[in-house]
Amino acid sequence: MLSESIDGLCIRSDGTYVDVTFGGGGHSRAILEQLGPEGRLFSFDQDEDAKAESGKLKDERFSFIGENFRHMKAFLRLHGVRQVDGVLADLGVSSHQFDTAERGFSTRLDGELDMRMDRQAPVSARDLVNSVEEGELARLFKLYGELPNARQMARAIVEYRSRMSEQGGINTTGELKDAVKKHLPRGMENKYLAMLFQALRIEVNGELEALKEMLCQSAEVLVPGGRLVVISYHSLEDRLVKNFMRSGNFEGEVEKDFYGNPLSPMRQLSKCSASEAEVSDNGRARSARLRVAERVSIKSQETREKK
Ligand SMILES: C[S@@+](CC[C@H](N)C(=O)[O-])C[C@H]1O[C@@H](n2cnc3c(N)ncnc32)[C@H](O)[C@@H]1O
Repeated sequence: MLSESIDGLCIRSDGTYVDVTFGGGGHSRAILEQLGPEGRLFSFDQDEDAKAESGKLKDERFSFIGENFRHMKAFLRLHGVRQVDGVLADLGVSSHQFDTAERGFSTRLDGELDMRMDRQAPVSARDLVNSVEEGELARLFKLYGELPNARQMARAIVEYRSRMSEQGGINTTGELKDAVKKHLPRGMENKYLAMLFQALRIEVNGELEALKEMLCQSAEVLVPGGRLVVISYHSLEDRLVKNFMRSGNFEGEVEKDFYGNPLSPMRQLSKCSASEAEVSDNGRARSARLRVAERVSIKSQETREKK
């Protein structure tokens, strides 16, 4: 979806763009290729490894900001930027994070149960599974993992951690898998584990709250006609993006003025999924959804409001 997302930004060669999820820098490099000498790119990522990777990108038009994108507006201001022409977000976990066992994101690899994108953050997945009470764990698994057997999973984890208390509870992804293995329906083991890991990851990184804040700030910093391009990887994220692009809020209720004209700051222009070829290349792409929206012209809204 690289080319579709870059097309969605509709890049002006002298424009100012923000990639809020630098990761390995694939999208940032593609944006820079389309920018002229006057163009500028600001890329965010809260992960130290992404910061190290960004150091390889030597380009005067590019600045890396090693912060959570929930602070996008404040850090852009610090760089003297109040308005931008496009914002791109390729949400979730990078291939590098998934493939590094000790980061704890992968259900396939055995490593520390960490899952923090920002390794300075105070709470890891290990802290969560060893300290949160059973009812709260079940709530998280249901809410963020949409796990049908959330309560069973939570109970299994609490029992396992008390059996393992002398070793300090559940410390690795392997131990977590061991704790819940009896509750993984046959043939759906990987799916259930992915849901469980997703729930923990969302809670550890405060992913949905950060996404909401970033979307609202995008509408504030985009120039009229500026583009917001978001790739999401699960339905909880996609629902927030979809509602925001339609209505400017997360409930998806479009407010209207006295004359029945919609008052949303954004207008969704397109949505698409990954092609068959992309899915066979990279299984993660199966769940990817790309949405593109445009900042509605403030003038046209003001005119409507005055009428
Ligand atoms: C899917 S990867 C992006 C891959 C990137 N587009 C590329 O071409 O290589 C997502 C990245 O976003 C970062 N990330 C996720 N949530 C973030 C947040 N709230 N603030 C800053 N970075 C975040 C992750 O650390 C990860 O590196």
